[in-house]
Amino acid sequence: MPGAIYAEGLVKTFGDVKALDGVDLEVPEGTVLGLLGPNGAGKTTTVRCLTTLLRPDSGKAVVAGLDVLRKPDEVRRSIGLSGQFAAVDEYLTGRENLQMVGRLYQMRAKEAKRRATELLEQFHLVDAADRPTKTYSGGMRRRLDLAAALVVSPPVMFMDEPTTGLDPRNRQQLWEVIKQLVSGGTTLLLTTQYLEEADHLAHEIAVVDRGRVIAKGTSDQLKARTGGERVEVVVHEREHIRTASEVLRGFGKGDTAVEEHMRKLTVPVTGGAKLLAEVIRELDSRGIEIDDIGLRRPTLDDVFLSLTGHAAEVEEGASDPAEGAGRRSGDAGHPQEKEVTK
Ligand SMILES: Nc1ncnc2c1ncn2[C@@H]1O[C@H](COP(=O)(O)OP(=O)(O)OP(=O)(O)O)[C@@H](O)[C@H]1O
Ligand SMILES: [Mg+2]
Repeated sequence: MPGAIYAEGLVKTFGDVKALDGVDLEVPEGTVLGLLGPNGAGKTTTVRCLTTLLRPDSGKAVVAGLDVLRKPDEVRRSIGLSGQFAAVDEYLTGRENLQMVGRLYQMRAKEAKRRATELLEQFHLVDAADRPTKTYSGGMRRRLDLAAALVVSPPVMFMDEPTTGLDPRNRQQLWEVIKQLVSGGTTLLLTTQYLEEADHLAHEIAVVDRGRVIAKGTSDQLKARTGGERVEVVVHEREHIRTASEVLRGFGKGDTAVEEHMRKLTVPVTGGAKLLAEVIRELDSRGIEIDDIGLRRPTLDDVFLSLTGHAAEVEEGASDPAEGAGRRSGDAGHPQEKEVTK
């Protein structure tokens, strides 16, 4: 019995562009799969195929136990979708948009009204609830669009880059909403360009590049592939390098790399910010003066580099408050599929 979302060998070509080159994935019921990849990787195309909006050239897809190609109408009734670009009616207010969705799903007027009010509160849109959405900011539209996807709680949800364009505070709030939703038993496939987001929300991550899933695993497994978290220390005095190295050896999960001329030491660690504080205290108690210290977490770039051997290229104009810049894949040879193991 396949998972709540199942795809095998999805292929989709647009002219010369092979958007999907044999996508396989499976999402067990009640879990979250994060589809992680740079611009143009094929994330939206995958979502569109799974949600009946696009017909793949070949391959198979089953959602909520229904064959997507044979039973598109039934699939549509079992899923919720929040697309990459907010789909709201500009001339209706936020409240009217949500009520309309409820009515489309055959809710009674009173129930649709109640649900709209509940979601407006949850998504912090109460103040703007009765204004036409054409006056909303990008972040507000994004939130309204997600709220609309949640009017009825479908068993299977798709969210295409749900937090792109949101500020850090709104992103956090939305993560909480998504966690609540999933704790209620919803199966979710979400796409993202942010490793941090997949890390927070997804049970399993599938990394996509050029229309293929190039790696699967938990966030820890993927990070382990990149060398994981590292502490970087720059000591003030060259003479302190040896002692600092001893200190780091006590905390590290591997060899300490030393760049003498930079007075810089780098060591792989687990334990994050708490460990960083301990390292600082220990260096201090040994009388080692430091010029700089930091925790370096793997970014999508690091993951990409280690999986594909090529960096995810920076795309102009795009920006990511969490990790730096939006990305597009480079031109190196096609990577083979790899299963991540610890
Ligand atoms: N309707 C279309 N017509 C032509 N090419 C398309 C179409 N839709 C997608 N593509 C191409 O297919 C590839 C995959 O696009 P897709 O939108 O799935 O990427 P994505 O991973 O969602 O990227 P992003 O992070 O920018 O949203 C890209 O090269 C894109 O240009
Ligand atoms: Mg997309």
